[in-house]
This record gives sequence, C-alpha cells and structure tokens, in this order.
Amino acid sequence: METKFMKSSLLLGAASLLLMSAVSWAQMTKYQEDQRLNMEAHVGKYTGHAADAQANYRRYCVGCHGVEGDGQGENAQWLDPQPRNFTLGQFKCRSTPSGTLPTDEDLYNSVGRGFDRSVMPIWNQLTNQDKVDLVAYVKHFSSKWTTEKAGEVFPIPAEPEVTADRVKAGQALFQKLECWKCHGVEGRANGPSSDTLQDDQNRPIKPYNFTEGSRPKCGSTDRDIYKIFMSGLDGTPMPSFIDNVKPDEAWDLVFYLRTLQPKNAYNMKERAIAKQLGLKPIDPNAPAPAAPAASSGGQP
Ligand code: HEC
Ligand code: HEC
Repeated sequence: METKFMKSSLLLGAASLLLMSAVSWAQMTKYQEDQRLNMEAHVGKYTGHAADAQANYRRYCVGCHGVEGDGQGENAQWLDPQPRNFTLGQFKCRSTPSGTLPTDEDLYNSVGRGFDRSVMPIWNQLTNQDKVDLVAYVKHFSSKWTTEKAGEVFPIPAEPEVTADRVKAGQALFQKLECWKCHGVEGRANGPSSDTLQDDQNRPIKPYNFTEGSRPKCGSTDRDIYKIFMSGLDGTPMPSFIDNVKPDEAWDLVFYLRTLQPKNAYNMKERAIAKQLGLKPIDPNAPAPAAPAASSGGQP
C-alpha cells in the first residue's frame, strides 16, 4: 500500500513537472513569436514588416502553409508537391549557395512568380509592399533567420554571345556532370535514376522535363537557369553544381539546355545552332572519344 502510494505521488510529481515545462515551453514560443514578429525584409526601396502581414497571411497563405508556417495547412494533405515548411528555413529558389538562406529578394521573386507544376499561385495582385511584408512573415517562422544571415550571393558573369562551340561545350558538360542520369539524354526526365528520386520528405519527385515546355520553378530567363543548377534546389535531389562548373562554362550549359526546350521566347538562337550542327542527343554508352592523332603516336 505504502509503496503504491509513494509510486503514485511520484508519478504525480513527474506529471506536474512535465506540465510545468510544457507551459513554460508554450510561453517561450509565444514570447519568441512576438519577438520574431519584429522581423523585417528589405527589397529595393521597400521595407517589409512581419507584423503587417498577419492579415494577408491568414487570408491568402494559411490554407496551404499553415498557421505555424509548417506547411500543414488544411489543404496540404491533398497536395503534391507539398507546401513549403517555413520553419525549416529551406528554400528551392536562391541566388545563394546550397544550404544557406535565400535573400529577401529571392523570396520576394518566388512569391510574385508562383511555382509551375505546383498549386503555389502567382501573387501579383498583391502590392509590392504587401509582398515584402509577407516575405518578412515567411522569415519569422524560422529561428534560422535570427541566428543566420542570408548566404552570400554568388557572382554571375555577364552572359556571353551564344556560339556553336559553346553549345557543344555545354553538351559535353551535360554528359560529364551526368545531368542525363536524372533528366535523360534528351531532357525528358527519363534518365536511369529518374524513377527512384525522393525529396527530403521522402516523397517521390520527378526531374524537370525540358521538352515539355513548362516553366522552370525558379524562373525562365538565362540567369534564372544559371542560378538553378549552380545553387541546386534545396530539399530536392537536384544538386548544386557550383563546385563543379566554372562560372563561364556554366553559360555553355545554359545554352545547351535551351536546345532541349521546345521553341520559346528565349531559345531561338540556340535552337538554330543545334539545327545547323545537326546536334544529336548524347550517348552515355559511347566509348570515350578517340585520342587525337598526335597522342596516339607513330603517325606521319
Ligand atoms: C494553394 C496552396 C498554396 C497557397 C495558397 C500558397 N502557397 Fe506558397 N507554396 C505552395 C506549394 C505547393 C509550394 C511548393 C512548390 C514547389 O516546391 O514546387 C509553395 C512554396 C512557397 C514558397 C517557397 C519558395 C522556395 O523558393 O522554396 C514560398 C516563399 C511561398 N510558397 C510563399 C507563399 C505565400 C507568401 C503565400 C500567400 C500569399 C502562399 N505561398 C500561398 C502552395 C501554396
Ligand atoms: C540526382 C538527380 C539530378 C541530377 C543529377 C540533376 N538534376 Fe536537375 N533536377 C532534378 C530534380 C528532381 C528536379 C526537379 C526539382 C523540383 O521539381 O523541385 C530538377 C530540376 C532541374 C531544373 C529545373 C528546376 C525547376 O525550377 O523546375 C533544371 C534547370 C535542372 N534541374 C538542371 C540540371 C542540370 C543542368 C544538371 C546537371 C549539371 C542537373 N539538373 C542534374 C534532379 C537532378
């Protein structure tokens, strides 16, 4: 009897301890939340304030991204890809290296652009000020923004003139860097690894199909494409190639990727060059190109 009583009072003590810590934890986060509502965002001449975005967030974003910003809004269960979980501070579209926070401008552009092949809408009916406020609000969900700064924007050299040599050099890179393993030799998203890919939430994910004509998620200009493979899309198997490609070579790769796309506003020159060259898809099984005559020796 006595032991039983002692046990239950011990349990009671443990339970109230737990309760107390739960309460103080909730208070902490409420306090932190208030603190974080001071979060700002800076884009051009605009300064965004998280506190000013609360109404718009609840009206326009909460159904997908959730009250807590964890990507678990009411509609989230039906969606693929899933809405971004803002508490992780991890984003696809960045002008900063993989694993770092994006700039305010990156987030601003994502909000205004929307995401093709997803239900994330284009939010251009909102004013610039509204959007910058929302960027601050997106940031306020993750403690990362209180301890880290945005990553350092990687430099992008001026875009050179497209030439046949550059398109060919780009194709060689596409082969060497094994983009084809996921994207397929013709860019049809059917490479040997394409069916096995998963995102960080262990959901199956397809590589981008270049031939389909849909817009890349992080923008459609040459600079956008450049940024996509240099920065990688964090949270997905799409890697960052910034350590494998020299800045100038990266433009060659952009030009080659253009030849894989159907006719659009950006790829007239590249398509014309590919046609002139009679460019064929790469053959990953082909033997390495024959060594030049000089090095094979013994030739007159
Ligand atoms: C109908 C659902 C839906 C609504 C409403 C919605 N989003 Fe999204 N959002 C998504 C989905 C889905 C993604 C992920 C897209 C992907 O990964 O391809 C996303 C991604 C994002 C991203 C990530 C950008 C990146 O680079 O990773 C931001 C920022 C964002 N949304 C902001 C907002 C804001 C701000 C609002 C409200 C003005 C909003 N979203 C409303 C579904 C939604
Ligand atoms: C391990 C597989 C894998 C490899 C290797 C890979 N990609 Fe990707 N790539 C992906 C996936 C998956 C996506 C789609 C991500 C998404 O939908 O969020 C993607 C998307 C893209 C996009 C479009 C992004 C968008 O916004 O939709 C481009 C451009 C791209 N990759 C270029 C390249 C280039 C160039 C290479 C080689 C230098 C390469 N990829 C190598 C898996 C890969």
